[in-house]
Amino acid sequence: MQKNPAAPAAASPPAARRDFLKQGCAACLGLAAVGTPAAIGTRVFLDPLTRQTTAESFVKVTTLDTLPEDGTPVQYPVLADRRDAWTKFSQVPIGAVFLQRQSKDKLLALSVVCPHAGCFVDYEEDKQSFLCPCHNSLFLKDGGLKDQDSPSPRPLDTLEVQVRNRNEVWVRFQDFQLGIKEKKPVA
Ligand code: FES
Repeated sequence: MQKNPAAPAAASPPAARRDFLKQGCAACLGLAAVGTPAAIGTRVFLDPLTRQTTAESFVKVTTLDTLPEDGTPVQYPVLADRRDAWTKFSQVPIGAVFLQRQSKDKLLALSVVCPHAGCFVDYEEDKQSFLCPCHNSLFLKDGGLKDQDSPSPRPLDTLEVQVRNRNEVWVRFQDFQLGIKEKKPVA
């Protein structure tokens, strides 16, 4: 069948529309080519911000000879290396811990953080107890709850403790979830 030269060119897209589509595709490809490396570059640039700050699991807290022989709990700062954003910080305070001798060779490490709402507890020598100043939870010297009606839902959190190289006291420093009965590490 012969084409009628007088018929309008309705069967194929107009030239202007074809050009528009071509330009659109070129722009998309261009954006993909430029945008992908740019996105990767941004991710790399921001990487230190998105990297989780970590501390070593076990940190050296003190030496054995600093702990009273009579078992009185002593509070020690916990220092560790941390990396935030683009900077590495050496030996910065990340918390505190109570250490005490339970016998000549046995140590107990307790978190200073009250499991109720996170205030720091104090040790009261005359009462041989830990007291939370925020809502008056009272804990025994070994961290147990002194009063079952205490606002704190559980005893003070114990931390793993090790003696290394005969005299160094190392503690596995962790945060635990607040306000619940179970002792669960913060994820
Ligand atoms: S935070 Fe300790 S009793 Fe509430």
